[in-house]
Amino acid sequence: MSGFQSPRGLRDLLEPLASAHGWVTDRAWAAADAAGYARIELPIAEESALFERAVGGTSDIVAKELYRLEPRGDDAITLALRPEATAGAVRAYIQHGMRSQPQPVRLATVAQLFRYDRPQKGRYRQFTQFDIEAIGDGGPGIDLEVIELGAAYLRELGLTDVQVHLNSVGCAACRPAYVETLRAHFTSVSQELSEVDQSRLATNPLRLLDSKEPAAVQRAASAPVITDHLCAECAAHYAAVTAGLATIGTAVLPAPRLVRGLDYYTRTAWEYLLPGEQGQQGALGGGGRYDGLVELLGGTPTPAIGFAIGIDRVVLALEARGLLPAVSGGPAIVVAGIEPDSVASRVAIAGELRAAGASARADVSTRKIGKQLEGAVRDGALAVIIVEPDGRLTLRDLVKASQAEPAERGGVIAAALRLVQNEG
Ligand code: HAM
Repeated sequence: MSGFQSPRGLRDLLEPLASAHGWVTDRAWAAADAAGYARIELPIAEESALFERAVGGTSDIVAKELYRLEPRGDDAITLALRPEATAGAVRAYIQHGMRSQPQPVRLATVAQLFRYDRPQKGRYRQFTQFDIEAIGDGGPGIDLEVIELGAAYLRELGLTDVQVHLNSVGCAACRPAYVETLRAHFTSVSQELSEVDQSRLATNPLRLLDSKEPAAVQRAASAPVITDHLCAECAAHYAAVTAGLATIGTAVLPAPRLVRGLDYYTRTAWEYLLPGEQGQQGALGGGGRYDGLVELLGGTPTPAIGFAIGIDRVVLALEARGLLPAVSGGPAIVVAGIEPDSVASRVAIAGELRAAGASARADVSTRKIGKQLEGAVRDGALAVIIVEPDGRLTLRDLVKASQAEPAERGGVIAAALRLVQNEG
């Protein structure tokens, strides 16, 4: 046995998980297509400075979890494996002049991401997100569209108990004063805070609302809430979003202490949560407005909003609830043969069956026919076509356990196709 193992937190997806991921991913693309979001495929690595600027140098994602790549050759630029997709999408929006298109530009992607996080169930170092971005519209209408799009996607997968926790995190005009109020609130107990939380108090007190350390959790319960400190514009936007969501029937839970772990958010911020899940597993996704990000990355000031839903966590939740579809089994038809030299003809017949729309495989072994039939039964096949020594074919119905007389090729292939259509 080789001593190699997949690196910690980077998993192999075997069946049935591989098919489950494929299914949840297909449903994500379908949801985005149906809502008119253009597909975008972004590179898996970007300049590390892009993430540092967009997500924020003091965020855990950049400070602790970024996978940087060594610069190569003449290219003196440090790249990083992408830890999220929003920064890349905004970089692409600016780079390709999407500002000249009708706004907002609606983009969707399914992206493999990398964060050097502490691996546990539902938290991996490589994971996949369904990511939606709508860039170029500052009004509350697009907030409703985007929030509901993610909620509907999760509901339609069967996660009908998903909750939307909603907050506003204010803007550059009103947040600084709130942050100072928050800092004062925590400073009075700073001696009791953990070392990490003391440094958060100094650099980014908002993150204290997200802390899992007991002293911070206790103090956070009585912390002032940002929704009481919004400027008039942010308050009006938040009121319009809440009223609009009520009108369209999207249930939300106000979460005035919800903060997100990325620095670019302004105004609307939300998370999709499944109640009753362990630890982070219930945090299925999150999003928010990022009205300052396009400008921060060198573009013209442009409001924007988006979310990302973790595919891995969605699969775990569906699995726990028994909601994953059965993995499509083996092929419906197996093409076997009596003589070892009929292998090429078996492969050709299986190809012909597939071209006609059936699922089929050839038994390419030189095993005895009895063993080949056993293999077909194990695969769950409905029928076997046996290539006889004289080149004629015999159709065996595995469901009815009946066998026809050997006959000419065309007729048997047609009969096999009819059989799987009726029984499949
Ligand atoms: P985020 O909250 O960092 O947001 O990630 C969104 C979701 O990705 C999480 O709720 C979780 O389901 C999943 N996720 C995050 N880290 C891991 C991990 N280590 N293992 C498994 N799943 C994970 C963002 O990434 C923002 N870019 C979302 C956004 C888009 N905001 C605006 N547009």
